[in-house]
Amino acid sequence: MDIERQFEGYRQAALAAIAAAQTPQELEAVRVEFLGKKRGRLKELQGLIAKVSPEQRPTVGKLFNEVRTQVEAALRRRKAALEQPRRAAEGIDVTLPGRVPALGRRHPLTQTMDEFKDIMGRLGFDVAYGPEIEDEYHNFVALNIQEDHPARDPLDNFYLATARTQTAERDRTAVLLRSQTSTVQIRVMERQPPPVRIVSLGRVYRPDTVDRTHHWMFHQMEGLMVDVDVTMAQLKTVLRLFATAFLGQDVAIRFRPSFFPFTEPSVEVDMWFDGDWLEIGGAGMVDPNVLTAVGYDPERVSGFAFGLGVERFCMQRYGIGDIRWFTENDVRFLRQF
Ligand code: DAH
Repeated sequence: MDIERQFEGYRQAALAAIAAAQTPQELEAVRVEFLGKKRGRLKELQGLIAKVSPEQRPTVGKLFNEVRTQVEAALRRRKAALEQPRRAAEGIDVTLPGRVPALGRRHPLTQTMDEFKDIMGRLGFDVAYGPEIEDEYHNFVALNIQEDHPARDPLDNFYLATARTQTAERDRTAVLLRSQTSTVQIRVMERQPPPVRIVSLGRVYRPDTVDRTHHWMFHQMEGLMVDVDVTMAQLKTVLRLFATAFLGQDVAIRFRPSFFPFTEPSVEVDMWFDGDWLEIGGAGMVDPNVLTAVGYDPERVSGFAFGLGVERFCMQRYGIGDIRWFTENDVRFLRQF
């Protein structure tokens, strides 16, 4: 039948034109040509239906609707495809999701120390800083550590290979990587009169044999409070509040008598945590010799000081089994924090 051939011709022409359209504008022109309400080619075909015999009309009408539905659907699909962002010339699909950049994060020890500063800040302690390369005066002499004290043994310290003189200047010229953050106590008290209430956090260095719990570089938090009538009871309370704030439960603090040249009396500090006593550092009442060395009057002021190992706390909290992991830079470890 002639009219059926005309429909078929229309169908093929319309589908080919739709497929060939490369832009939404071109496609719109195709739409107007083939489906336009006023002068479109579909309109012409519709006119033909009126001319067939009444018996043929239902068949022809059905065919007409089929063709129209198919062409309209093809047009909708092509329109959606053309409105998508287009592929770049090199064949890069710009519609793919982007690559998420790998974000870094703060080292677990940095996070721990930041939290220490927060907790101690709430207890009224400022943060003080001191150099990692120290002279013997600040690392030993002012801290009442005598010349013959074993802690000054060159084999137990990282002395730097500077010219070593034997003159009175030696205290100030022989330098080493600090072996303790207690050096910062001296630096702070030299700078300011009492009262003092500071913590200082940072690296210390000792030529230890490395194993699961020892390293030649580790971190300490030093604390110092000097004022009139500072007592050991206050020291114990501060340490208990600190440990409780960090570990999130009521931990007990125990003092064991000990000796440090810069404190009198001196204690080792243990913490009751998870069913065990754990050694967390040293502490005591600042020795009068130290107060005198920085020009404070030991008759008028007293103070307490403490030094805690940062790695200990961090390992305890996160269940880290080996101190070496902190410095191996293995992202599988670091990503967990
Ligand atoms: N500096 C000591 C150490 O590294 C720790 C220490 C003990 C610090 C007693 C103190 C203190 O401030 O009072 O082993």
